[in-house]
Amino acid sequence: MAQKLDPWKSSEISDYSKLFDEFGIQPFAEVLDDIPDPHKYMRRGIIFGHRGYDMIADAIRNKKPFVVLDGFMPTGKAHFGHKMVMDQIVWYQKQGGIAVIGMADREAHAVRDLSWDECKKIGVEEYITSLIALGLQPENTRIYFQSESPLVKDLAFELGTKVNFSEMAAIYGFSGETHLAHMIAVLTQGADILHSQLPTYGGPIPVVVPVGADQDPHIRLTRDIATKMDMFTIDQRIDQKTNKPYWSVRGKNAPEKALREINAAIYEKFAVQLPPNNSNKLASNNNSNVLGNTLTGAALGGVAGAIFGGLFSDSVDTELFDRSLNIRGKIPENDLFGIINHIESVYRDKIQPVNDQELGCQDGEMSLFFINRPVGPNGKQYWCITIREDVPQEALVAIENEIKSRFRSLADNILLGAAAGGLVGGAGGALLGLATPSTTSTKPSAISAPSLTKLSKEHIDIFVDINRIELETIVRRVEYNNGGYAFILPASTYHRFMSGLTGGKMSSSIPDSNIALSEEPKSAAKKIMKAKTGGRESADEQRELGGEFDKCSVYELYLFHLVDDDAELIQIQNECKGGKILCGECKKKAAGKMESFLTDLQQKREEAFEKLPLYGIDYKRG
Ligand code: TRP
Ligand code: SF4
Repeated sequence: MAQKLDPWKSSEISDYSKLFDEFGIQPFAEVLDDIPDPHKYMRRGIIFGHRGYDMIADAIRNKKPFVVLDGFMPTGKAHFGHKMVMDQIVWYQKQGGIAVIGMADREAHAVRDLSWDECKKIGVEEYITSLIALGLQPENTRIYFQSESPLVKDLAFELGTKVNFSEMAAIYGFSGETHLAHMIAVLTQGADILHSQLPTYGGPIPVVVPVGADQDPHIRLTRDIATKMDMFTIDQRIDQKTNKPYWSVRGKNAPEKALREINAAIYEKFAVQLPPNNSNKLASNNNSNVLGNTLTGAALGGVAGAIFGGLFSDSVDTELFDRSLNIRGKIPENDLFGIINHIESVYRDKIQPVNDQELGCQDGEMSLFFINRPVGPNGKQYWCITIREDVPQEALVAIENEIKSRFRSLADNILLGAAAGGLVGGAGGALLGLATPSTTSTKPSAISAPSLTKLSKEHIDIFVDINRIELETIVRRVEYNNGGYAFILPASTYHRFMSGLTGGKMSSSIPDSNIALSEEPKSAAKKIMKAKTGGRESADEQRELGGEFDKCSVYELYLFHLVDDDAELIQIQNECKGGKILCGECKKKAAGKMESFLTDLQQKREEAFEKLPLYGIDYKRG
């Protein structure tokens, strides 16, 4: 039977592994090795799944900026389930992340009917103070209440333009009876997750949302909406002919300028990284088969003429003038534009912009180069690139060099050391053409380097070996610079829930099933002494068979909260399995640990009230 994840009905999840197939959550084990010093929840498999975590692991490893975002619905007491999320936020902050915490008072008000004042009180006194007590630092932290953030509320409205009622109903089972505020609360959660990527906070940045599996519907919906808001989608495809993977970046109605900028960025990254003598090597190889066989030292002076005469029409040659550069031969348009866009973006920063209109440029788009396609004397079209008057000639030289490094010029290779005067020797070309007709069959089309990209009207295909993270970073940056929303799809992790101390699930309606972070330490200890264990019928039986720690709620307390050291945890397992410790003693040990943990935490929670202003929270204890 298909399971349903319901964020508001603490559904019990019977089989976490099913979530992989049913909802497309990825196993966390896949990315565990990419994290330098994983949290105990990760090491212990408590965090079992993720979406899109590669970008987060990359950010942690390479000390790039990222955000950890979570929301807390301020209803009732903060308990050990909330502590799991809080622990992770604190951990991510230690890994260099910016912690952003939303108090989901809109959700509490809409779904649980709490007044705004109650939300505020509970939000601060239960949740924010606990976060601080658990180690959240004031630096790189932003805490806000949903109802007090115009940015979040406006974004929520905007997200509402991309999702309709049927979609919401399909995900959450909403019906005609569902209050509109409930739906707005869902959009607000999406805005919690996405708003850190708005211009106010500097644009696209990876965001991770650590949650329990019940929150996955929100994550799915938010990733869906983000995809719809973005200018471009990024997919990996397989080339039918070569069977090789390539990236396809598509955007309906995206400005062509943005596509060209992506193209330029790819060329910036990859074209100039070709080893300097790569093209020479390519050329000398070809020399021996194309030229070695046919030319054998013949009429070298005329070779270039042959090129311009059209014999080697696939080779590429350049001619540099003061304000313009001519390019002859078959250069894929795409490569040419990639190179030009790239050099253009370099020079755009270097020169003082002059009035665009005067120069006849289109509004807002400052073209430094003008590209024409005139017809040469031989009847063939060539490229002519002219620079604007305020651009130095070196920009043209840079384009020429870039083209030379990527496309073999026959003139360069053959004429090495030969008379430059031959460059205009058209007659020699004709001669050569007659003398060695076989050359045409080995036309040096293989000479040009393969294209890095293919640019079309609404998409660009990318053939270079670039990983998704780099590509997404480039694409979203370009989108952002072109005024798009440019959300990097938010990542998420999913953790298991502890079972209740009384067996079954934890529930606030069964006080003995759970412990609040603000609970009296003695009362918490008592609950542990009454907890359901994996012990046997009698002490003798347990000594003989050992306990079943994997069915024991006390063991879960160790596993999730009370023991940080993995070796100590394994020792507890062994003592339990081997019947060396009985449940009474074991529970006493857990209760002791719990008591000292809570005593310490509560002291820190008290102190946290004093520190609230450091976290931007203006609150008077009533
Ligand atoms: N819906 C979450 C809960 O019930 C609270 C929440 C609000 C949240 N906004 C969020 C969780 C953003 C994660 C991310 O606890
Ligand atoms: Fe649980 Fe400890 Fe008893 Fe084992 S000995 S079943 S871990 S309480």
